[in-house]
Amino acid sequence: MRVQLDHIVKIFGVLRANDDISMTLEEGKIYAILGENGAGKSTLMKILSGYQPATSGNIILDGQRSAFSSPADALRRGIGMLHQDPLDVAVMTVLDNFILGRPAAMIPDRRSARHDLVETCKRLGFNLNPDTHIDQLTIGERQQLEIARLISLGAKVLILDEPTTGISTEQKEALFNSLKRLASEEKLTVILVSHKLEDVKALCDAVIVLRSGKVVGERAMPCDVAELVALMFGQEIERSPRDLAIRERLVLQVRGLGLQARRVAVHDVDLDVRAGEVIGLAGLDGSGQEAFLRALAGLQPINAGSLTLTNAKAESLRLDKLDYHARVQRGICFAPAGRLEEGLVQGLTVAEHFALTMPAANAGSAWIDWSRVNQHADAQIAHYYIRGRADSNIETLSGGNQQRTLIALLPEDLKLLLLEDPTRGLDVESVRWVWSQLLDRRQHGAAILFTSPDLDEIIEYSDRVLVFYGGEVSTVDDPANISVTQLGSLIGGKRA
Ligand SMILES: Nc1ncnc2c1ncn2[C@@H]1O[C@H](COP(=O)(O)OP(=O)(O)OP(=O)(O)O)[C@@H](O)[C@H]1O
Ligand SMILES: [Mg+2]
Repeated sequence: MRVQLDHIVKIFGVLRANDDISMTLEEGKIYAILGENGAGKSTLMKILSGYQPATSGNIILDGQRSAFSSPADALRRGIGMLHQDPLDVAVMTVLDNFILGRPAAMIPDRRSARHDLVETCKRLGFNLNPDTHIDQLTIGERQQLEIARLISLGAKVLILDEPTTGISTEQKEALFNSLKRLASEEKLTVILVSHKLEDVKALCDAVIVLRSGKVVGERAMPCDVAELVALMFGQEIERSPRDLAIRERLVLQVRGLGLQARRVAVHDVDLDVRAGEVIGLAGLDGSGQEAFLRALAGLQPINAGSLTLTNAKAESLRLDKLDYHARVQRGICFAPAGRLEEGLVQGLTVAEHFALTMPAANAGSAWIDWSRVNQHADAQIAHYYIRGRADSNIETLSGGNQQRTLIALLPEDLKLLLLEDPTRGLDVESVRWVWSQLLDRRQHGAAILFTSPDLDEIIEYSDRVLVFYGGEVSTVDDPANISVTQLGSLIGGKRA
């Protein structure tokens, strides 16, 4: 289907989130929409997919002016969107979820729905078990389910808003292969919103760049990555070499740790973490690295071994005896990847988030000192360049700005930062900036352990890498000397 966006404007209060956007998208092609955090990408895609109306402007499908009253309405006209954060319902099975959202007349019996699900997955190259509960799926699998659902409901335009944040390299390949097939064989129009220029290079036929709500450029691919970056930010970004901040002092000692993760048992992990050290945890989705990180935070039970925290006076404390909250009080902090599911609270404002995390805000009394909270929130908003206000509801912030808020909420004086995919959804410039903020924390002796599906990020920022594969953990001591391909084979189970 040919999609034309004609002078689309979207105004929120005083903000012109989309400011007169026009573009034409041909069928059978894959487009990337690029732009820095807050540029207006998700806003535009939500308009195209019926989640919100434009303030003015038209959507024209195959030459016909169209207006949608809801996402279901847009989907009936052939437009399906996969959201930046999956919206599915956790207690349901894969099959229930696949059936969900169909108009009453179109609800099939379970038998034919099951058949439809299995066939659609086969066609797309996905491997999903209809009877698994949604909360057992990885982010990548939930996404596959949603794509299968949209396709089986007749989507002719598929919009993917940052689909590769949080999925494994393997799942990304499966996803890209099926998208390419859908475009070339079934003539779908595919629109990819992404910050990962490598992904855009691998997948897209053309890119459209937005900045501050406007289209600032269109390029056919292949196109020089440096040129795209310059279009997105108005300039090229320089890399600065990073300094080492590792000290001799031990912060955390892990001995003989064993745990049962969702799909894999991790056993016998020994690890010494030093002050100022950054350790990347690499592994395919579900290889135990997430569970390991959560075990350090006290959010995942362990079945063997010990965790010992050591302070600057060389006093040690058995962490595994303490629950999550007691560990937080000892300077251990965890930031989850699923920002709207776990990290942030929908319906609360930015200031309210700071109130929740500022222990001093309500010290000794039941009253929150709102003027202090607002002052602190304003200071953090300025310091972390968050586009939003203290009284903005958290879900009205763009994805990247939600992530900045999450980082801004981390307390100052930390011993151990445990970060799940800390730069998920951030644009290239913000990634560097967030890392510079995180690395600054090492000056106070904090050690950082983080997971990321992005192997480049792991190599670039880690002093050491732990590789998780099939329950075994191995160490890469000099990540500076390993390539992404080599690390990729290690997490795929090949020995160095
Ligand atoms: N419902 C809303 N109410 C108020 N402001 C909003 C709302 N939705 C989006 N905005 C604002 O519109 C601007 C564009 O947001 P949008 O989500 O489209 O950005 P984006 O390009 O998708 O960014 P990111 O890469 O961070 O996801 C942001 O400043 C955001 O705060
Ligand atoms: Mg967005």
